[in-house]
Amino acid sequence: MISTVVLPVAGLGTRFLPATKSVPKELLPVVDRPLVQYAVEEAFRAGIRHVVLVSSPVKSALERHLQPADAALVAELEAKGKHDLVAALQSATPPGMTVTVVYQAQALGLGHAVLCARDVLAALPGGEQQTFAVMLPDDFIDAPAGQAGCLADMVALHRDTGAWSLAVEEVPRAQTDKYGVVSLAEGSLRMTAMVEKPKPADAPSNLAVVGRYVLPGAVFAALADVKPGAGGEIQLTDGIAALLASHDIRAHRFAGVRYDCGSKLGYAKANIALALRDADMGPALKAWLGSGVLA
Ligand code: UTP
Repeated sequence: MISTVVLPVAGLGTRFLPATKSVPKELLPVVDRPLVQYAVEEAFRAGIRHVVLVSSPVKSALERHLQPADAALVAELEAKGKHDLVAALQSATPPGMTVTVVYQAQALGLGHAVLCARDVLAALPGGEQQTFAVMLPDDFIDAPAGQAGCLADMVALHRDTGAWSLAVEEVPRAQTDKYGVVSLAEGSLRMTAMVEKPKPADAPSNLAVVGRYVLPGAVFAALADVKPGAGGEIQLTDGIAALLASHDIRAHRFAGVRYDCGSKLGYAKANIALALRDADMGPALKAWLGSGVLA
């Protein structure tokens, strides 16, 4: 059973400046909910009940969003009969979800951020060796209707086979230098190698890792040995690569659509897709888009 997800949210978010001067990237909303909330909800649907938020001391609004709703505001809305708003307010903290906050004082890379969660995992009943999940909230994965989502499928894979996994998707070869790229054993989904941001000519495939991982606890010891790699950062990719010979870690091709909400284009697409699907505003938005006003 996987009980804990690590959410690294301490990055600088420079691609979204100036918005991220004062608003953490992971709090940017897609329609009405911030990215971090979609991640917490996806983890909840996967059966996970403990979030370790690896945050930055200058991004405290993120932890506030995951705290229980203000009781006075709940009471006021209840008194006015605004039950839908109470539900919206309380949706940020699904029932039974515990949140632990740790800090990454300096953004030294995703691998370093995950390593910051080590002591919390070590103190839990399963100890440091337990399997845990990692989600990057800016990779927003919109599951097909009626499905629990990418992380739930990866948790089920671990339960059924014991294998760990990383979510992957095919990207154009010209873009491999933006991703961690995997190579697989012949005729199987087992990963044999992984490189961070390879040039297209050097990339072992066009299968790119996106922000969902189910990892063995052994990755902490591996990350502690990793030296700064691509971009001077401690890369999660390098820690995982060190485990591939000894662990069955698989590429998971997920169902649904992934929006790279760390980029302005991906973020705009996510908002348009979800707004068009929204029961209240979807029809009016569609009519507006088709009205010629944008021509
Ligand atoms: P990104 O690779 O998108 O980096 O991080 P970033 O710094 O947030 O954004 P840009 O590139 O400057 O625009 C992916 C996830 O990993 C977290 C981020 O907060 C985001 O959720 N992260 C990244 C950390 O927690 N710590 C780090 O040192 C780096």
